[in-house]
Amino acid sequence: MLIDQYGRQIEYLRLSVTDKCDLRCAYCIPEGFTEFEKPTNWLSFDEIERVVAAFARLGVSRFRLTGGEPLLRKNLPDLVERISALPGVTDLSLTTNGTQLPRYAQALRTAGLGRLNVSLDSLRRECVHALSGKDSLDKVMSGLQAACDAGFERIKINMVPVPGVNTGDIDDMIAFCIAKGFILRLIEVMPMGITGQSLDYFNLVDFIHDISPKYQLQPSHAIYGGGPAQYWESADGRFTLGLITPRSQHFCATCNRVRLSVDGTLYLCLGQEHHLNLRPLLSDGCSDEALEMAIRRAIDLKPERHEFNDKPEQIVRIMAKTGG
Ligand code: 5AD
Ligand code: SF4
Repeated sequence: MLIDQYGRQIEYLRLSVTDKCDLRCAYCIPEGFTEFEKPTNWLSFDEIERVVAAFARLGVSRFRLTGGEPLLRKNLPDLVERISALPGVTDLSLTTNGTQLPRYAQALRTAGLGRLNVSLDSLRRECVHALSGKDSLDKVMSGLQAACDAGFERIKINMVPVPGVNTGDIDDMIAFCIAKGFILRLIEVMPMGITGQSLDYFNLVDFIHDISPKYQLQPSHAIYGGGPAQYWESADGRFTLGLITPRSQHFCATCNRVRLSVDGTLYLCLGQEHHLNLRPLLSDGCSDEALEMAIRRAIDLKPERHEFNDKPEQIVRIMAKTGG
């Protein structure tokens, strides 16, 4: 088992398979950004599979592929198939912006992908365009339909409410998610890079206080995915709302995850620099034991907490680099 210095058991690995993206969300990749990782520094599928197998031997059972936009990585369904077949992998999920789902949803399902999170910040076309840098709403909608047709259930919709931009869209998003059987997750903007730092966050603790009577929402003890989201459920059970509150109520004491970037760096915290690069070991063809040892060493570096509120300017990495 992987236990860090603060007694937290690490049971979840998020893997960024590319830092590139076809969108430019206002809280993520800056317009005109060019500092993407060179393809020669990317981990190969063989190397990614080795890292996942090593984590699985160390007791980690849940894995998520992310980015950037993970579906821009060529042949991603092949990687899904390889990872989902590994012993010890019980839960494999994907976070995507949805634009490539019309093409890949069925292949991902067939390859063994269990769960999907799709980012969508509004149902208004102009608002999606303004926030994501592209007129992408129609594509994302077709992607969601393709995912439903392929058999994905309880899809999670990630929405980042930005005050004055899309906070007025939350009611419509709730109605949409109820109609489609999706789980809506609202996420407070984190000050990752200049993009995240340039936006105010929408305080979700205050928000839930205000809207829970309207939708008769009750705190739920169910765990959907074992992450930091606190879930609320409507009395009739038709709607689930998740809140991710890194700013208004941080949840570092129960953090159970680490992240692997596309160049093989293990990041121990979204908001801190602590990291260990596994790529030199992997490209030297290290033994399984050496790889496991390096992972244990990295886990020992995991800091106690982020400092998003006290030192918002210290995180220079944008989300697409670390893996959202
Ligand atoms: N703060 C909060 N969430 C972010 N994401 C990207 N950048 C940020 C940020 N600065 C989230 C988006 C997307 C996921 C991949 O990462 O919600 O759904
Ligand atoms: Fe792309 Fe996701 Fe970042 Fe938006 S949040 S720019 S969709 S990686």
